Amino acid sequence: MSITPLMPVYPRCDVRPVEGDGCHLITEDGRRLLDFASGIAVNSLGHSHPALIEAIQSQAAKLMHVSNMYGSPQGERLAQMIVDTTFADTVFFTNSGAEAVECAIKTARAYHQREGGDPNRTEIITFSMAFHGRTMATISASNQDKMHKGFLPLLPGFKYVEFDDLEAARAAVGPHTAGFLVEPIQGEGGIRPASQEFLTGLRDICDEQDLMLVLDEVQCGVGRTGKLYAHELYGVQPDILATAKGIAGGFPLGACLATEKGARGMGFGSHGSTYGGNPLAMAAGEAVWKIISDEAFLADVTAKGERLRGALEQFIGNHSDLFELVRGKGLMLGLKMKVESRPFYEHLRDHHDLMTVAAADNTIRVLPPLVIEDAHIDEFMQKLSAGAADYVVPEAVAA
Ligand SMILES: Cc1ncc(COP(=O)(O)O)c(C=O)c1O
Repeated sequence: MSITPLMPVYPRCDVRPVEGDGCHLITEDGRRLLDFASGIAVNSLGHSHPALIEAIQSQAAKLMHVSNMYGSPQGERLAQMIVDTTFADTVFFTNSGAEAVECAIKTARAYHQREGGDPNRTEIITFSMAFHGRTMATISASNQDKMHKGFLPLLPGFKYVEFDDLEAARAAVGPHTAGFLVEPIQGEGGIRPASQEFLTGLRDICDEQDLMLVLDEVQCGVGRTGKLYAHELYGVQPDILATAKGIAGGFPLGACLATEKGARGMGFGSHGSTYGGNPLAMAAGEAVWKIISDEAFLADVTAKGERLRGALEQFIGNHSDLFELVRGKGLMLGLKMKVESRPFYEHLRDHHDLMTVAAADNTIRVLPPLVIEDAHIDEFMQKLSAGAADYVVPEAVAA
């Protein structure tokens, strides 16, 4: 038998972490790497944060799981905290980002299929380079052939339009349109923020035509941009929003947030999840939300984001052969390269003990824990500079 016990769907690298220490990872063979990947924007509080450990340990000793058939004081508490601090009036808890997006898609369709709505409005308009997850609905919502290959047929009901092209979005709306699903800042797509005009324009179209604006903030949400959610930077409110990743700092948790109007179709029996919102996940989520929703914490993320961005801007000026620009918001930053980015990401990982994340559009994603300090930024810039200084662009991938 040649197949590995772990289904071989990930091209795993040789870094094999066994321990986390704040903003560093320690591997099986004793390497200590600076973690500016954060499990792809998940470890919002870094590794081994005492408040998160304490919350999980004490809840695990008390009650880990009960069915959603029962009342949930833990779920009510976290949902109330989220409602109090965001646009949302109601929350459905999931175990992952894709499930949160699935719930958001169902909620948008149910809005139109409720009694008195227009049941023909089933189609969701999505955008080029989007990433919404790996379930059948979420790969169908993305226009990327590489994610579709081998899994056809896709689910119907999605129409793809160029990202950040408002006129194309407007032109795509028809009698079957239920709404738009969009990442305010594309993550996997290469840290590409939507323009102000685009997001405001989508909101206007939704208001004019009674459509749902669904935001996928799985990667850009939960404090990553210096706001609890990235849409706050734009002053544009969604009807429905999917969140996950950093929301419980590494414990599997996601959520679909909605306004009362947006959730109009979601009545008893319309949706569910065995694990979603169980007491253990709620304890982890509550510990993280308490820290991240604090205004001073968010202001600190903004300040650190500005410092890191400033350093990166200066750095790329010294390496104009390799780097084109810096983009993103807060601590969700992307370094767009003039050469293929993956080999440089591997070079940083293999030769400079620095973890970043490669993304589409030849971008290196810089996603540190939100709790980084100035010393971590200094260490990062040192490693990055050393990496750029001794990097030899592989022949085959030179631009
Ligand atoms: C924007 C976005 N949406 C959805 C997902 C899917 O989340 P998960 O992998 O938790 O299912 C991701 C994961 O990277 C994401 O970045």
